[in-house]
Amino acid sequence: MFPDLTSDDIFRIETQRLWLRWPRASDAASITSFLSLADVARMTALIPHPYPPGEAERFIMKARAGNANGSALVLAISQKGAARQTIGLLGAHPATAMDIEIGYVLAPPQWGRGLATEAVKALTDTVFSLTRANWTLANSRVNNIASRRVLEKTGFAFVDTGLDFLPARGGLHPCDRFHLDRKAWAAAKRSGDGRRQMPPMAQQSQDASGNKSIVVQQAEG
Ligand SMILES: CC(C)(COP(=O)(O)OP(=O)(O)OC[C@H]1O[C@@H](n2cnc3c(N)ncnc32)[C@H](O)[C@@H]1OP(=O)(O)O)[C@@H](O)C(=O)NCCC(=O)NCCS
Repeated sequence: MFPDLTSDDIFRIETQRLWLRWPRASDAASITSFLSLADVARMTALIPHPYPPGEAERFIMKARAGNANGSALVLAISQKGAARQTIGLLGAHPATAMDIEIGYVLAPPQWGRGLATEAVKALTDTVFSLTRANWTLANSRVNNIASRRVLEKTGFAFVDTGLDFLPARGGLHPCDRFHLDRKAWAAAKRSGDGRRQMPPMAQQSQDASGNKSIVVQQAEG
C-alpha cells in the first residue's frame, strides 16, 4: 500500500518543529517511558498495561518490518534540535483495500503544545500524497477529548459512535469514529487552507560519498 519511498529507513517527514522518522532500536527506552504510562495506554487499542519487558523492542522490530514491506507506515516523533529523543509515535495501517487508519501517542510532558496535531497533519498529508487511499480513518475512545480535538483540527469529520474492540483493553468499548476523505482534503488544499498543505514532495539528494537521503517536507499551517 505504501510506495518504495517510505520503505527505506532514510525516509523522514519534516514539520515546523518535528521529525517523523522510522523508529530504531535505540528508541526503546524512550518509547517505554511513555507507552508504559496508564494515562497513555488506556486510550489505545493495542498498548498493553502493564507494559511488558521487551515490548518496545518487539514494537520497533514489527514497525520496521511493516515499513520495509510497504504494508504500513509507523514513525517515531522527535523534536528538531535538542536531544532528538523520541517523544511520540504515530502510524498508518490499511483498514480496507482503499482506506488507511491512523493512530498516535505523545509523551505526557509534551501534551498541549499542538505537537500531536502537527504530526497527524503531516502523516495525513503523506497518506494522501503517497498512497491511493480514498479515506483516512481514526477512532477515539468517547472520553478522549484531546484525541478528538487533534482529529477535528486536522479536518476529520465525526462519523458515529459505536462499540469497538480494543484488544489491549480487554473487550468492546464505546468509541467515536472519524474520517477524512481525499476530496475534502484536496478541496481544503485548493482553497489555500494552510492546515491541509501537501508536502512539496520528496527530494532525493546524494552527498559526496554517494549516500542517498530522502526528505518529505511539509508546508506549515
Ligand atoms: C491525544 C494526544 C496525542 C494529544 O496530544 P497533544 O499534543 O496534547 O495534542 P494537541 O496539543 O495537538 O491538541 C490537543 C487539543 O485537545 C485539547 N484538550 C486536551 N485535553 C482537553 C480536555 N480535557 N478538555 C478539552 N480540551 C482538551 C487541547 O486544548 C488541544 O486543543 P486546542 O488546540 O483547541 O486548545 C495525547 O493526549 C496522547 O498521547 N494521549 C494518549 C494516547 C491517545 O489518546 N492517543 C490517541 C488514541 S486514538
